[in-house]
Amino acid sequence: MTPGKFSYPDSPVHYRRLKRPYPKIARGEGVWLHDTEGRSYLDACGGAYVAALGHGSALIGEAMAAQARRFGYVNGTQFTHDPAEDLARALTELSPGLDKAYLLANGGDAVEAALKFARQYWAEAGRPEKTKILSLDPSYHGNTLLALSAGARASYKKLFSDWLVEFPRVPAPYPYRSTGPEDPALSAEAFERAVLSAGPDTVAAFIAEPIGGSSTGCSVPPEKYWRRIRALCDRYQVLFIADEVLCGAGRTGTWSALEPYGVVPDLLVLGKGISGGYAPLSAMLAPRRLVDVVARGSGSLAHNQTFSHHPVTCAAGVAALSIMKEQRLVERCARLGPLFHKKLDALREHPLVGEVRGRGLLAGIEFVADKKTKRPLPRALRFAESLAEAALDRGLVVWPNYGNADGENGDLIMLAPPYIISETELDELVLRLSDAVNTAARSVTVGRTS
Ligand SMILES: Cc1ncc(COP(=O)(O)O)c(C=O)c1O
Repeated sequence: MTPGKFSYPDSPVHYRRLKRPYPKIARGEGVWLHDTEGRSYLDACGGAYVAALGHGSALIGEAMAAQARRFGYVNGTQFTHDPAEDLARALTELSPGLDKAYLLANGGDAVEAALKFARQYWAEAGRPEKTKILSLDPSYHGNTLLALSAGARASYKKLFSDWLVEFPRVPAPYPYRSTGPEDPALSAEAFERAVLSAGPDTVAAFIAEPIGGSSTGCSVPPEKYWRRIRALCDRYQVLFIADEVLCGAGRTGTWSALEPYGVVPDLLVLGKGISGGYAPLSAMLAPRRLVDVVARGSGSLAHNQTFSHHPVTCAAGVAALSIMKEQRLVERCARLGPLFHKKLDALREHPLVGEVRGRGLLAGIEFVADKKTKRPLPRALRFAESLAEAALDRGLVVWPNYGNADGENGDLIMLAPPYIISETELDELVLRLSDAVNTAARSVTVGRTS
């Protein structure tokens, strides 16, 4: 890519990346994005697991415009409106056992709302000593300070460590990097130990992603894990918060990634894909039995945000969910999932590919220097980032991440294509990705800096 004027400091934009030029996107259509220079990109990760319905949806655009014409904003403490009522109905119908939806903007907002709700619930239920929140290590739950505290990603937290609060940790269930089937992290024994060590009477909640996101690269815990977690949470009266900001909303082939295990969390956090990315929209879902406690007590969740329950963003959500329902897109993820993973099998043979994993239209590829020992590539090589750049050069957008092996080293590429992707486009995705992997692999001399 040649540096253009869309780079720092030539443009007035304070970009997310200050050391690279940006292609400027002019329009999108389905899984494709087209820039102003005439280049096209297959969006294989929906930006950041967001564009679930593809780009350029006239239906969602029209629904948002129609709502903006009626009224653009009212405050959630003063009024309600059809988009909030309809969206909450649609979300709760999709989530049996969870009958109230608090509507927000970013995933991190909804994570914070869930953490605060858990503490407020116990305080108003007469158990104010239940304040601790347990979370997995590694994990990621967002970038605002409480969400950042909840996550365990050393590199993201380093600069702000004196502003963050401590969360007791539970080793994440990560089969590829576990010590074997007896690993207490895989059996939830480690979770029980952490609850007992913190003191069950002081634990308010446990927050976790049902399928690991960027921090463990789509790692799927063993079959019995979540049922065991559910049982232990019930035994010790710990609220189970499922953070499905990344893995939820149908991407894995069921609306909730916990559905295949028959597990219902106490609080469900959704974001990213629920508006298809057409508006910043997230939600915290809870059962009435919990919300009733706050309704009888203080009367309101202590998490106030100006743009919660926003009419236009809710309208985007209503339109996105009705498209998912009418076009049976969750079922489509379930059907395309095995096919997608079969096509990705082609990558397994590559000497740097340690594992390809995931479920439905969510996949993670972990790269290693040595397949046998699973030794990660040294961070200095920045393999994941080089691969993402090589992919972009080939007109393919993928999501890189690192640090999964030991907090610093470890390279991942994540894939989360729009639910509407065709089988031919899946072939194109794998073709371009294989080519990018070969190029990135050629550019690193494995072992030299290890
Ligand atoms: C699992 C998970 N939770 C929460 C968040 C935070 O969402 P947002 O960036 O919309 O605040 C993310 C973002 O990547 C995520 O992956």
